[in-house]
Amino acid sequence: MMKEKIEALRARFASELSDAKTPEALEALRVAFLGKKSPVSDLMSELRNVPKEEKAEAGQLINSVKSEIAEAIAKTGDKLKAEALLAEIRSAKKYNPTLPRRKKSGSYHPITLIQREVEEIFISMGFTVEDYPEIVDDYHCFEALNIPKHHPARDMQDTYYIENGQLLKTHTSAAQNHIMRKYGAPLRAIFPGRCFRNEATDACHENTFFQMEGIMIDENISISNLIYFMKSMLSEVFRRDINVRLRPGFFPFVEPGFELDISCLICGGNGCPSCKNSGWLELCPCGMIHPNVLRDGGIDTERYSGFAFGLGLTRLAMMKYGIKDIRDFNSGSLKALSQFRSN
Ligand code: PHE
Repeated sequence: MMKEKIEALRARFASELSDAKTPEALEALRVAFLGKKSPVSDLMSELRNVPKEEKAEAGQLINSVKSEIAEAIAKTGDKLKAEALLAEIRSAKKYNPTLPRRKKSGSYHPITLIQREVEEIFISMGFTVEDYPEIVDDYHCFEALNIPKHHPARDMQDTYYIENGQLLKTHTSAAQNHIMRKYGAPLRAIFPGRCFRNEATDACHENTFFQMEGIMIDENISISNLIYFMKSMLSEVFRRDINVRLRPGFFPFVEPGFELDISCLICGGNGCPSCKNSGWLELCPCGMIHPNVLRDGGIDTERYSGFAFGLGLTRLAMMKYGIKDIRDFNSGSLKALSQFRSN
């Protein structure tokens, strides 16, 4: 009697289980079959009426059907959970690693990048890095550099004057006197800075640009020291051996004065439109510091000599990064300026 009832229960459970398609339906099934008032609890109460000799066997049968049902419900529950998770994954938006990053991070201005790079190189050669104001007086910008009032060299460097007679510095050389007085000799210093000139602007000319000045003063400094330092620095910046040549150039604060050219980076010196077929690019005016300038800086000219150079930092950045229009630097155009990153 009991056996038939148990078989009937098994069959009923199996058919109802196959209809339970959601976690809620499954929970309802569990309560219906295993709860306080359920076929299993009914069978338990009926056990009382079973004859003594059959009781043990009937009890075991009831227990095993009970655990079968519990196990089947647990298994189906796990299956339903796994299916739900799979459905969620399938319906979720696909992750695509090739899509562009949406979050924009900032980037350094190309002048900052090149300035830091050149600073590192000179620091490694024993130079200190100095800062100097952008608004200076006539003495520092011109007179201390052997450019007296009414000297024709001033024509090349017209600038913006302030009512109190001060001016926006036209070149980083304006700091030379101050730095010589601050440290005395021997001395190795570089001083980057923003310079200003009253210029008509075009792709190669700007009224605001950057230079990096350098001076080295010691006993027995000669032009070969100058060539050596410039060559080492440029080879580091461009990460290849760079040929340099000196041509005579006139600046009242150096004697002799030079224009330093580097072999064209585009054609390697063979001649191309970028170097006007000459194979050379003009990069850095330089020379041996004029004794008048050393004296004004408080340096003993009997004992010391030195060289100075005025590297066009903006020019260098144009060459290194292939920037064709100098006006891009001050344009504030993020499209143009945000492509440069330090690596
Ligand atoms: N100050 C000069 C200029 O801007 C460059 C220069 C610097 C030349 C140092 C010689 C030595 O034109």
